[in-house]
Amino acid sequence: MQDLIISPSILSLDYAKVSEQLAALERSNAKWLHFDVMDAHFVPNLTFGPDVCKGFRRAVSLMMDVHLMVVDPWFVSDLFLRSGAGLISFHLEAMKDIQDALALCAHIRKHGVMGGIAVKPATPIEPLLPYLDQLDLVLIMSVEPGFGGQSFMPEMLDKVKQVHKEIEQRKLNTRIQIDGGINEATARLAIAAGCDTLVAGSYVFRADIENAVDSLLCLKP
Ligand code: DX5
Ligand code: ZN
Repeated sequence: MQDLIISPSILSLDYAKVSEQLAALERSNAKWLHFDVMDAHFVPNLTFGPDVCKGFRRAVSLMMDVHLMVVDPWFVSDLFLRSGAGLISFHLEAMKDIQDALALCAHIRKHGVMGGIAVKPATPIEPLLPYLDQLDLVLIMSVEPGFGGQSFMPEMLDKVKQVHKEIEQRKLNTRIQIDGGINEATARLAIAAGCDTLVAGSYVFRADIENAVDSLLCLKP
């Protein structure tokens, strides 16, 4: 299994305490910072643009893990390719078909940024399995995208297991990220199923940030 990475989601950051919380993130053992981009069309919520990503990139040394929840990932990913993103993932449901999604992933990787494909809870994972070697990361949503603080959907662990099995069989380096409802109990299940990258929003930012990150990291077998 790859190293476990914790990617706190700044959707849950307390915007009245930005500098204090960013300093705590910097001191923490989190390596990535999950940056949820919502366009009010793909999901019923609206968040941040590329300039905000640039600002966060300058403020902390964590890698910017950009999760696009937008109807036009081709257009929006280009904005983020120039904004300090280390990884850009986008939704399969927003693409014409798998080939279109693989082409965008290749375009992102050509710019030296990692490329990932995300799937909503109702989207089956099987069609992606043959192409895992072309992705840096698969993002399995364990809540409906749009908002932090929702409950984890345990049924999504089956998808994680399928991806994990394929990655093991083919000895790939593709990461498996899970996003939504992660806390100590659900993280344990996700890791056991094969996840190596955990997004955690409310769990991290509603507590002592450094301790919350460590409480997830120590679950690694
Ligand atoms: C939801 C976002 C998540 C969200 C997770 O659409 O993609 O990244 O911030 O928040 P929690 O960990 O609170 O479920
Ligand atoms: Zn996310």
